Amino acid sequence: MRTQVAIIGAGPAGLLLSHLLAADGVESVVLETRSREYVAARIRAGLLESSTVDVLAGCGLDGRLREQGLEHRGIYLQWPEERHHLDFVDLVGRSVWVYGQTEVTRDLVAARDAAGQQFVYEISDTALHDLDGDCPYVTYVDIDGREQRLDVDAIAGCDGSFGPSRKAIPSSVGRTWERTYPFAWFGILADVAPSTDELIYAWHAEGFALHSMRSESVSRLYLQVSPDTDPATWSDDQIWEALARRLGHGQNGWELHPGPITDRSVLPMRSYVYEPMRYGQLFLAGDAAHIVPPTGAKGLNLAVADVALLAPALAAMINKGDRGAADSYSDRALRRVALHALLVVDDDHAAHTRRRL
Ligand code: APR
Repeated sequence: MRTQVAIIGAGPAGLLLSHLLAADGVESVVLETRSREYVAARIRAGLLESSTVDVLAGCGLDGRLREQGLEHRGIYLQWPEERHHLDFVDLVGRSVWVYGQTEVTRDLVAARDAAGQQFVYEISDTALHDLDGDCPYVTYVDIDGREQRLDVDAIAGCDGSFGPSRKAIPSSVGRTWERTYPFAWFGILADVAPSTDELIYAWHAEGFALHSMRSESVSRLYLQVSPDTDPATWSDDQIWEALARRLGHGQNGWELHPGPITDRSVLPMRSYVYEPMRYGQLFLAGDAAHIVPPTGAKGLNLAVADVALLAPALAAMINKGDRGAADSYSDRALRRVALHALLVVDDDHAAHTRRRL
């Protein structure tokens, strides 16, 4: 087969890239190792920065977001006996939106299906070839066990942190920064209305806590725990009691309302950045190039920021032969990533990055 761009991965990065490229008249095929149902059902982040909402609005994907999402002016910062509201709109004229990644994925898939996007789900043995040559191509085995080859002008590696794209770049080329934090987040989903109108980020001697939400009837809450915590060893009461202590239950009449817990998991905290995000005709975006702790759904918002840079760069390169934006894509994307991921990695690299910015 032949197309202009092979997009490996149907996560938010890959799906949004296919949509933005199509708007610039660039054809693509999205290759995904999981099933359509699996991708659609994945529960992940749920907070959209204003720049992400602007990108979605810019390509006509903000309809359901504005109908069903929750717009927040800011957040609360909580210490024992003390809670402060940070009003982003007053401070920087921007709001944030609570709208689940599952919903973003649903909107993207619906828009791509309506536009006749070619998806190939449930593939295996994905491999990338001739990346620094004139005729890059991807090979894979399709759902029927047949070997397939896709010839392209460029490959977008949107295959997450465990995908093949980054690994296809010669080890002599890449540079990585990584930091694993000595704590994790114990996250729960609960079928109860949020006890707060906006997110609460709490400092407590016992550890951090966060009161987030998915909707007006589903709450999402997190507790800082040690990385080896087994979520099954905590009773529901233990979880709600720890959340109540850390979030300031009873303070100025504020109460945390517990409810049925429907999902629980322990998320490791890790920062990882890979440079360069481009090698020949391969361009990395999203988790394929960087992993950041889940605070503020940064992973999702950085993935959107990457493809908002990558789509026009690929369109200029493919439609007009103008390689300027493609050549500077990696530096421009990493500049934003560095601001979010590397500030907490190590001083000398932060200094190096600050010197470069
Ligand atoms: N072949 C094809 N697809 C693959 C392969 C492969 N060999 N390996 C992985 N994939 C697919 C995964 O199944 C997944 O659907 O790539 C996709 C990567 O999607 P995400 O992990 O969601 O990464 P990304 O699109 O970069 O999204 C980044 O969104 O999901 C949040 O918090 C998450 O920070 C993350 C952000």
